[in-house]
Amino acid sequence: MRLESIDSTRDIEIVRDPMARIIGQGGAIERVKVAIKQRRHLLLVGPPGIGKSMVAQAIALSLPEPGKEIRVLHNPENPERPVLKVVSREEVEEKEAPPSVDDGVVSPRSVPSFVAERLGFRCFVCGAISGARERACPSCGANKYKKFAWDQQSSPLGEIITEVFGIGGEGPELEVKTVTTEPSGEERVVVYRRIDDGRIVVLQKGGLEEPAQEKAPQAMKVLVPLGRIPFVRATGASETELLGDVRHDPYGGHPEIGAPAYQRVIPGAIHDAHEGVLFIDELPSMEHLQSFILTAMQEKKFPIIGRNPHSSGASVKVEDVPCDFVFVGACNTRELAGMLPALRSRIVGSGYEILLETTMPDCEENQMALIRFIAQEIELDGKIPHASRGAVEEAIKVARKRALEIDGARNSLTLRLRELGGLIRLAGDIAVSEGAEFIEGKHVKKGIKETRPIEHQLKDKYGSVWKGLERDSYIESTQDSRLEGYG
Ligand SMILES: Nc1ncnc2c1ncn2[C@@H]1O[C@H](COP(=O)(O)OP(=O)(O)OP(=O)(O)O)[C@@H](O)[C@H]1O
Ligand SMILES: [Mg+2]
Repeated sequence: MRLESIDSTRDIEIVRDPMARIIGQGGAIERVKVAIKQRRHLLLVGPPGIGKSMVAQAIALSLPEPGKEIRVLHNPENPERPVLKVVSREEVEEKEAPPSVDDGVVSPRSVPSFVAERLGFRCFVCGAISGARERACPSCGANKYKKFAWDQQSSPLGEIITEVFGIGGEGPELEVKTVTTEPSGEERVVVYRRIDDGRIVVLQKGGLEEPAQEKAPQAMKVLVPLGRIPFVRATGASETELLGDVRHDPYGGHPEIGAPAYQRVIPGAIHDAHEGVLFIDELPSMEHLQSFILTAMQEKKFPIIGRNPHSSGASVKVEDVPCDFVFVGACNTRELAGMLPALRSRIVGSGYEILLETTMPDCEENQMALIRFIAQEIELDGKIPHASRGAVEEAIKVARKRALEIDGARNSLTLRLRELGGLIRLAGDIAVSEGAEFIEGKHVKKGIKETRPIEHQLKDKYGSVWKGLERDSYIESTQDSRLEGYG
C-alpha cells in the first residue's frame, strides 16, 4: 500500500498482535522474540516515549498462560511458619470436581447474572456467556476476570493491554454464596459452585450452617492465583511492594480474635510475576532494591517476611516462595550509570541489553508504518475522528523535522512517538470542536502551534524563559510572606 492510495486512516487495517503494533524497532523486536523463547532477561534502553513500556507489555502477552497457583497453608504446629504449597492447574481443577450432593447441576445461564460473573462465565461488559477459563470475552474482548475495575490506564495496546494492567483482577471464584431473608425472617443460603468450564452445581441449604463448614477444608490462602495477569509493573516505591510482607495484627494472631499468620501473608511484585514478566521502569531509581531483584532472579524464589520490625508480622516467615519471572528493565541512556553493576552484568550474562532506535529512514515503507501508528493511536483514543491523507502528510513532516532537530538525523522519521501521538490527539480534539468529519492538515498545523513547549510559550509572553520564571517566583514569595503573617 502507498500513501497516495489511501484517503484516510480509515483505510488502514489495524493489527491485533501487540508485537506487530510496535513500529520502527524491527531489530529490537527480533531480539526480544528470541529472548522470550529462551526466557531471558532484558534491559531496554532509550529516551522517553519510544515504546519501552509497550515492548514490555507485548512480551507479557506472548508468554504462555501461568500454570501454577501459589498458596500458603496454616501450620498448626507453628502458625508463624505457614507452609508453602505450589499447585498445578490440573490439581486446582481436580479440587473443583463435583461435590457429592445431588442438588441440581445447571448452566451458567440459569443462575443470577452476578453469580455467573463472579464464577467467570458471564462478561460484565456485554453479558455474553462463555467458558469460565476464557479470560477474554469471545464476544467483546473484555477481560472477564477484571470485574469492575474501570480505572484503566491508557495504554498503547488498548483493549488487549488494559487487561494486563488490571493487576489484582484475580481469576474467577470457585464458589459464590448468596443469603436471602425469607418473609418469615428465616435465612436461606444458596451456594453456587463451578464444577467445570460450563456447569454450576447449586447447593440449597435451609439455614446458615452451610456446606463449606461441613467439609472443613484445609485452612489456606491463595497468594498468587492461577488466573493472574502475567505482567507486573513494580515502581520500587517500597520494599514491601516488591518483596511482599506480613500484615500486622493488633491481636498478635490470637487464635480466637486475631487473624492467623497465614492469612496476613502478602506476596510482592516478584511473586505476582511468577511465570510472567516483572517490568521495572526507571530501574536505577530503585537504588538498593536492585540487589533484591538480582537475588530473586538468581534463586527464582524469595521468602516473604514481615518487614516492619514493630509489627506482629515481623515474626512470620514463609520460605522459598517461587518468583521465576522474566525480568524486563527499562531506563534511558543517561540512567544506565545508576544501575547496579552486578544486576547489569547478570542481564548481559543471561539476557539482552537492547538499545531502541530513535529514528527510522524516511522511506515509503516507514511512512506507511507511521500511518499505521497514527491509525492505532486514533483507535486507541476512541474519541477522535480518522485522519485524512492531508493530516497524515502533515504528521509525516513533523516526524521528519523532529528526527532532524532532536537526533540530527537527515532523511529520517522520528520514533519518539509519544509526542507525535499527543499531537494527533490534540489535532483530533480540534477537529471535534470544529465538528469536522476527519482530522485535516489544518488541524495538525494548529495542534503544532498549541503543543509548543512551555519554555517557548514563556518566551513569547515574557521575552525570555528566565523572566517568566522570575515573575512566578516573585509571586510565590510574596504569597509566602503574606501567609507567614497569619502563622
Ligand atoms: N515504536 C512504537 N510503535 C508504536 N507506538 C509507539 C511506539 N513508541 C511509542 N509509541 C506510542 O507512544 C506511547 C508511549 O510509549 P511507551 O510508554 O512505551 O514509551 P517509553 O519508552 O516506555 O517511555 P518512558 O521512558 O517515558 O517510560 C505508547 O503508548 C504508544 O502509543
Ligand atoms: Mg515507559
